Amino acid sequence: MEKDIKEILITEEEIKEKVKKIGSEIASSYKGKDLNMIGITTGSIVFFADLIRDIPIPLRVDTMSVSSYGGSTESSGSVKLLSELKLKIENKNVIIVDDIFDTGNTLNNLIKELSKFNPKDIKTCVLLEKQERHLVDMRPDFVCFDVPNEFVVGYGLDYNEKYRNLPYIGILKEEVFRKKVWFKIKLNIVNKYFTK
Ligand code: IMP
Ligand code: MG
Repeated sequence: MEKDIKEILITEEEIKEKVKKIGSEIASSYKGKDLNMIGITTGSIVFFADLIRDIPIPLRVDTMSVSSYGGSTESSGSVKLLSELKLKIENKNVIIVDDIFDTGNTLNNLIKELSKFNPKDIKTCVLLEKQERHLVDMRPDFVCFDVPNEFVVGYGLDYNEKYRNLPYIGILKEEVFRKKVWFKIKLNIVNKYFTK
């Protein structure tokens, strides 16, 4: 697994320190208020589990599974909720927690969907933000790290469901992508010429 990583971008220690800092920022913003935190699975699970333990005020926790419509490498203009919220968020403060704000389509659309439940307020918190890639007119409210326009994995983030268990954020080697592209091309040729 480690051999597929080109470079460690953010170390385990740096993540720990920053998550603690964002946790105390959230705690001071919501002290004396209700707080409902919704983690988006699967990408945010590692970050979410650490973050909530760094927020030393009363809060409620829920998770949601979503999928974006459209292409497989880039999310599109709408999201589909794959699970229901157990928390009642009407007239409550909500923070949606995700792994990365890339184009921003997922969180932008999720805010629209969750607004239908009439919460008092919705904010967003992400581990990573790729500012170069934004396609929407919003920014996440709480951000741990800005990252360059590279495909990163680890600490919950995946490529093909792998690498989520790396304790750091790393840049994936290009040959790992290329291998997959070559495999697909070969598979297409075989399908086209050798099967009926
Ligand atoms: P957005 O809707 O374009 O902001 O995309 C958000 C989702 O795309 C994230 O929740 C990730 O699952 C995925 N994603 C975007 N960039 C990366 C990356 O560099 N590594 C792993 N997943 C990514
Ligand atoms: Mg993902």
